[in-house]
Amino acid sequence: MSLWGGRFKKNINQDFEKFNKSLHIDYILIKEDIITSIAWSKSLLQAKIISHQEQIKIEAELNKLLIITNKNPKKILCSKEEDIHSWVENRLVENIGPVGKKIHTGRSRNDQITTDLKIWCKKNIKKIYCSIIQFQEKLVKIAEKNSNTIMSGYTHLQRAQPIIFGHWCLAYYEMMQRDKSRLQDSFSRLNTCPLGSGALAGNSWNIDRMTLSKNLNFLQPTKNSLDSVSDRDYVIDIVSAASISMLHLSRFAEDLIFFSSGESKFIELDDEISSGSSLMPQKKNPDILEIIRSKCGKIYGLLINILVIFKGLPLSYNKDMQEDKEILFNTIHTWNSCIKMSSLTIKKIKINKKKCLLASKSDYSNATELANYLVTKGIPFRESHNITGNIVLYAIKNRSSLENLKISDFKKYHSLIENDVYDFLKIEKIIEKYNSYGGTSINQVKKSIKQAKKEILKSKKLKFT
Ligand code: ARG
Repeated sequence: MSLWGGRFKKNINQDFEKFNKSLHIDYILIKEDIITSIAWSKSLLQAKIISHQEQIKIEAELNKLLIITNKNPKKILCSKEEDIHSWVENRLVENIGPVGKKIHTGRSRNDQITTDLKIWCKKNIKKIYCSIIQFQEKLVKIAEKNSNTIMSGYTHLQRAQPIIFGHWCLAYYEMMQRDKSRLQDSFSRLNTCPLGSGALAGNSWNIDRMTLSKNLNFLQPTKNSLDSVSDRDYVIDIVSAASISMLHLSRFAEDLIFFSSGESKFIELDDEISSGSSLMPQKKNPDILEIIRSKCGKIYGLLINILVIFKGLPLSYNKDMQEDKEILFNTIHTWNSCIKMSSLTIKKIKINKKKCLLASKSDYSNATELANYLVTKGIPFRESHNITGNIVLYAIKNRSSLENLKISDFKKYHSLIENDVYDFLKIEKIIEKYNSYGGTSINQVKKSIKQAKKEILKSKKLKFT
């Protein structure tokens, strides 16, 4: 049964009724809608709109509905109601009679939906935050196990300088730290209660919005009733935080796809999380990572979707806004499953240390150190860079690594190069030198791991308020 009727002479067109319906999406908000309805009934009591007995009756019935729907949320879907608010209100009227008809006094579905949605967002921000912490824990664990595993670092996807595998893990740990901070930001901005803003103008019933906001665990009530019912910045905030985080996960996926390819073979994915080919019996494919990489595109699509819905939308509430929930629910679900799959991948990763080391020693990744060596002999860097470039060219021509060149070869390029150059070119020595704050030396990586562990503990204790 619809929540209106008096003004209409004709029944609703059945196709339009279907088109207008959002219950199949917003039934997810059943718990939140009941919680806000109970809080609203208390405000109605406080404002002397309903009696004590009536409030108790309403609250008891709402609690009953909560238990029933908790057991079987799909039960809601069998109904013909337009949305979750109609479903709850009509069950109330059905089960406790005329008293139930009082619940909507001074309230609109416009302030109701955004209150429900904000409560849902608060819960789900915490859920994603926890999933990120778990992913970070796995990254730190693998970083610790590989705090002296040398691998090749890349720029332009060309071997560049040797790095520590743990250092690579911690790069993603840092990205996740920022993703968490964006979630905290979103949480603190959305923590205001819109209930009591009515359809758009506020309400005329002397509702104590301070107490209402407190009862619903918000920091304070929203300040402007027009803004209250129109604002979905918090949905956009979350979808945009998800977009940046998915960008990070897609880079993580791409790195690992490359590391697991036959071209590098630095890692091997566990059988449990790999797929085969229906035709080529030898194949072991990183589908899990490819799906993560692809889901990033889906979230960008959802971000554009929500932005375009709200662009140029006049104040205050418009039904366009109903489309926000499918986007938000889809975003949270996809984002969370990608974080979980990233955790699973890193937890089960096998690292081929020999291959990692070999790659780090190939393609003249120690050339920068030769240039730095010449700097220690008093040659300006730009000059030493050029000399080293010439030596690399010579080595390429002679199919030799830098460390295998004879001292007489080096001397042809600069007389100041002595036997101590060979020590400079050793990979382990190189790593050791990158010891300034945030560098890839084993010492720095170990320090970062310690720091990350402390930060994780702090995150675990964080109270979202
Ligand atoms: N289902 C709507 C939404 O999700 C809330 C109801 C507001 N409807 C209205 N006709 N004012 O936004």
